[in-house]
Amino acid sequence: MSTHKPAKIPPFPHIAASAHISSETVRQSFCDTALSQRDAFWTQLSKVIKFHKPFNEVLEWKVPRASWFKGGELNVSENCLDRHLRDRGDKTAIIWEGEPEGQTRKLTWSELHALTCRISNALHAQGVVKGDRVLVYMPMVPETVATMQACARLGAIHTVVFGGFSSQSISDRLQDSGAKVIVTADGTYRKGRFMKLKSVVDEALTKGSHSVTSVLVFRRDAAQECAMTAGRDFSWEESVLKASPARAPLPLDSEDPLFILYTSGTTGKPKGLYHTQAGYLLWAHWSTRWLFDVQDNDIFWCTADCGWITGHTYIAYGPLSNGLTQFMYEGAPTHPHKDRFWEMIDRHKISTLYTSPTAIRMFMSSGEELPAKHSLASLRILGSVGEPINPEAWNWFFENIGHKRCPIVDTYWQTETGGAMVAPFPGATVLKPGSATKGLPGVLLDVVDPDTGKSLGRGKKGALIIREPWPSMARGIWGDPARFEKTYWRSSPAFDGVYLTGDLAMFDDEGDLWVEGRMDDVLNVSGHRIGTAEVESALVGHQDIYEAAAVGVPDAIKGQGIVVFVELTEKAYRDIASGKRDIDSIKNEAREQVGLEIGSFAKPNEVRIAKALPKTRSGKIMRRLLRELAVNGEIRGDTSTLEDFSKDALTEE
Ligand code: WTA
Repeated sequence: MSTHKPAKIPPFPHIAASAHISSETVRQSFCDTALSQRDAFWTQLSKVIKFHKPFNEVLEWKVPRASWFKGGELNVSENCLDRHLRDRGDKTAIIWEGEPEGQTRKLTWSELHALTCRISNALHAQGVVKGDRVLVYMPMVPETVATMQACARLGAIHTVVFGGFSSQSISDRLQDSGAKVIVTADGTYRKGRFMKLKSVVDEALTKGSHSVTSVLVFRRDAAQECAMTAGRDFSWEESVLKASPARAPLPLDSEDPLFILYTSGTTGKPKGLYHTQAGYLLWAHWSTRWLFDVQDNDIFWCTADCGWITGHTYIAYGPLSNGLTQFMYEGAPTHPHKDRFWEMIDRHKISTLYTSPTAIRMFMSSGEELPAKHSLASLRILGSVGEPINPEAWNWFFENIGHKRCPIVDTYWQTETGGAMVAPFPGATVLKPGSATKGLPGVLLDVVDPDTGKSLGRGKKGALIIREPWPSMARGIWGDPARFEKTYWRSSPAFDGVYLTGDLAMFDDEGDLWVEGRMDDVLNVSGHRIGTAEVESALVGHQDIYEAAAVGVPDAIKGQGIVVFVELTEKAYRDIASGKRDIDSIKNEAREQVGLEIGSFAKPNEVRIAKALPKTRSGKIMRRLLRELAVNGEIRGDTSTLEDFSKDALTEE
């Protein structure tokens, strides 16, 4: 975060005029009521859900175990599909584009409902019943959403694994979840190539022990080869397409698990966070509605993959529950042209674009001329998620994509929170580039001293916690309740019974929240706490720097010093090649930039130029590896889960 006073953008009258939450007063009164009359507030909001049996208690809370809407019975898939059939049966639920140009499909609500029922029946025929786990390893196609919905319809628990994960990761998740059936596809198109998925599943099934008895295989491209194992593998045509298009949704307890989603923690072993039915659905519904200000004719596009929590809440559940038409895209954002995203926005008249700062910075690096070739006039609301958005990227997005008339909804949340926790309401909140602004109704945030757990008030950085339970909170770590309690709810005596996000944050003097990044990436230089994200935000403000990562190294005098790794823009490389710029001056300017934005104490000891920063498949920079390199001069850890990374990528130019 810069020390400058942030810019402020008041709500746009053209958005506020038709917004569900059209003023700060209304937003504030929601937040007040959610805390002061908790039960009445949630009971009122729960009316959007069809319950087969009404709940008898809004919340039972015994740290760390929450039961929301206790005693109620419902089916999430019925709430996302069946309930729209009468009024929206012929409305488009999903518009899909494959990466190869010209491949488009549209599914109405009736069609998506029928597909979901067929998949439920196919799963059922394989012996899947309530409580069974189904591992989903699929490309971005409508069938993936339908498979998640099909599991929900049967009461089976899906665990979606992002298609970029390795066979080893699938094998680990099969063992941990005890999944009985896998739903996969032959492959998917990415950057012009057909990436095989089924063969990765085959390999996973040869590793370790597992309980898989059958594999359903969707054919993305029937012309591609796809080996099938007789007796275990079932083709889509035989299993799904021949199944009946009707299946009654099974009423489930509010607290039956809906899905498990694995995420990385501070240890090497991924945690299988699980979410349950009613509370999750309620939050997916209302947060989508409030934050993207859902209108009936919207075309909503969340660019996340279904394998991440964002793809669960804001593709598979939130938009469907709201009867919102959504767009889904299979492939790489830059294929076959760097302006593929902008072409698709114009082609499908997309109104809401929810994406990540990393994607925005990538677009920035290829210049504003590309979006300028497209109208983008259909866009109404923009969103950002996954990491702190630096003000430079925010402004670029605001000006070049939103043409200064689309609010940017920066949503702060986690796999564990199930849905957005902190975000502006587009018709009500004053926006500040780089701040996710205020907590959603019922989200009681606090910033506290990491040692004592005492509230720090405004203007001081500390640990971000949530003091009260909220409906979409994860209910546990699959098979490891003790780890759940210890990691999030009782991490130390100072944090007993409050939810520890693990993030470093600060409230500004107007009560807006600035999240700086994970606490585990916090550096302490000469007694000053500095967020790695803060240093990185300063660096990417430099015209030649496209992406940056800061890590701490031991320093005899300052305690800790900073080493930064930066990736340069394409333009910077051209300028270096033509002799207009040189590496040393860029490194010096980068140090100065950090000094200017934060203060001299934060200037890095060293600036290193990397061809590519190591990233996890979800796009997060792996600082642990960089730290190892900065401290030991080499990387000893495992790099197998990284995207596009070779050790060579870190060698200096
Ligand atoms: C970070 C993604 C700042 C944060 C939904 C959090 C953010 C972690 C934001 C969770 C944001 C996510 N501003 N930081 N708008 N959104 N984060 O589980 O560090 O993949 O703890 O969930 O991402 O990542 P996860």
